[in-house]
Amino acid sequence: MRKKIVAGNWKMNLLDEEVINFIVDFNSKKNSIESEAEIIILPASIYLDTMISMPDWDIKIGAQNCSQFNNGAYTGEISAAMLRDFDYDSENLHYCLVGHSERRAYFNETNFICADKVNRLLENKLKPIYCCGEELKDRESENHFSLVQAQIEEGLFHLSEDELKQVVIAYEPVWAIGTGVTASSEQAQEMHLFIRTLLDKRYGDEVANSISILYGGSCKPDNARELFNQTDIDGGLIGGASLKVDSFIQIINSF
Ligand code: 13P
Repeated sequence: MRKKIVAGNWKMNLLDEEVINFIVDFNSKKNSIESEAEIIILPASIYLDTMISMPDWDIKIGAQNCSQFNNGAYTGEISAAMLRDFDYDSENLHYCLVGHSERRAYFNETNFICADKVNRLLENKLKPIYCCGEELKDRESENHFSLVQAQIEEGLFHLSEDELKQVVIAYEPVWAIGTGVTASSEQAQEMHLFIRTLLDKRYGDEVANSISILYGGSCKPDNARELFNQTDIDGGLIGGASLKVDSFIQIINSF
């Protein structure tokens, strides 16, 4: 059985007090969670400490980014070793996003930079959530499969079988992110199956069937159930709808 996951990517939203309010509100509604999905929240790095320090907070936590370098003169960057070091005693910090389309678009992250980030995270016992997905122009020119194939192959296929098993993949079509336009469940399932088939060809079906592939892009309480019902969709990477406790819990309960 593949792990079901719902991860909230808060992007550059919520200040400290709002983070605390979210946690208090979430904890007070925890009993309404019916699903066994693993729940992850990815706050801005500066608030990881707030999250980790809150009592009764047993949700997994992740960072949104890390440096591709080990250490050194890289002003403003946070290394994977720092993320690991920072949480060495509580072990709440498990994940880090890699290659979100906003980082690819605004910070020029290539597949090869993403591959380095994946390596740094695995070296520091953190699990990468590796993002892929095409822009609208790629889909319109029917280039979306080959683009996603390159993202997966160049970002992940240098890994050994055991290393790949630590990775979660998130398919996020760029045209669906923050736009209110979701991929249809058929479009999403088609791409998820395509990605799983790539994994199967390179690593075999045991590995391919063990990797969770999440869908992201305008996933909301009213469309999550249909998306999560698809054979190869193992959960969601949620942006806007993860900022409110009620909509996030409704999505978590959509399996
Ligand atoms: P939205 O859910 O706001 O479309 O964002 C998706 C996303 O980018 C999650 O990483």
